[in-house]
Amino acid sequence: MAVVLGIESSCDETAAALVTSSREILSERIASQDEHHAPYGGVVPEIAARAHAERLAPMIEGVLADAGLALADCDAIAATAGPGLIGGVMVGLVSAKALAMASEVPLLAINHLEGHALSPRLADPELGFPYALLLVSGGHCQILRVDGVGRYRRLATTIDDALGEAFDKTAKILGLGFPGGPAVERLAKEGDPAAVPLPRPLLRSPEPHFSFAGLKSAVLRAHESGRYEPADIAASFQQAALDCVLDRLRVSLDAIGRVPALVVAGGVAANASIRSALEALAKERDMRFVAPPPALCTDNAAMIAWAGCERLTLPGFAPDPLDFTARPRWPLDPGAEPARGAGVKA
Ligand code: KG4
Ligand code: ZN
Repeated sequence: MAVVLGIESSCDETAAALVTSSREILSERIASQDEHHAPYGGVVPEIAARAHAERLAPMIEGVLADAGLALADCDAIAATAGPGLIGGVMVGLVSAKALAMASEVPLLAINHLEGHALSPRLADPELGFPYALLLVSGGHCQILRVDGVGRYRRLATTIDDALGEAFDKTAKILGLGFPGGPAVERLAKEGDPAAVPLPRPLLRSPEPHFSFAGLKSAVLRAHESGRYEPADIAASFQQAALDCVLDRLRVSLDAIGRVPALVVAGGVAANASIRSALEALAKERDMRFVAPPPALCTDNAAMIAWAGCERLTLPGFAPDPLDFTARPRWPLDPGAEPARGAGVKA
């Protein structure tokens, strides 16, 4: 059994965790920076990097102490090496390099998106390859076919905003504070999803890509018109987003071919309405539906440690070199066609 130390610092969560190859989370700690970024209504990269730099080392010390382990007991140190806000990524990766060098434990530079993509397998031992994956976070909105560790085919991406970004912007427009996704979800429960006529961008387009910029602008116009209750706007926005997700997924699932499971991961996968709609879609397609528990959906270090565990078991496994460069962009499927009109999102 292998033990991997995971480090996550690519956005606004500082996190460390110890995870075993038998799917046990031995210890984990996470610190959000919401109070630092709330006054600005979004993550400020410089502030995020400074907070990671202050918190990470004591946090790593803490998870080792919690599990009663020393660094030398670990089989690898896995750190997010991108994509993400580069200052924060560098804090985590450079810390991991220093620890790896001092302890002679192998370094694993992990793609944050791979952490999300494999996180459902940490939560569910029954989930084998291949599976269809909806990866929806603050920075990404993709549909992938996952054939194995390191084997991803991207079918869809967003041509403008990510789904989490659309939730965050809707929250900002409605004055719900930051982070926006959970606040919009809460308010939507009190509203009528049919009250506000909102567009469903790209609905029924033969290409499976996403677009949320037009929906966001429509939310702004609806709010500024003064004709609608915030709860109705939140509920109508969530319904429109959901309709887009289901429609885009249907197109992708046709292209992916027969796979046994529909899987959702990333921060937006914490949304209960989205989870239940996806579960219904999976049922309709005679697929299993797998969604990690909400704490594994939003950014965390257990998923990074787990991606490390998965890599350790690959035949021909090799650790990453100590000069591995932090990557602001790092697509899971570098060969994927960019979406037409895309503002080049990884
Ligand atoms: O995966 P994540 O923690 O960070 C990134 O890698 O981006 O995702 C964060 C995103 C944010 O946009 C947040 O608003 C959204 O996930 N989110 C939600 C919910 N919880 C988090 N969106 C909708 N409903 C939620 N319950
Ligand atoms: Zn993430």
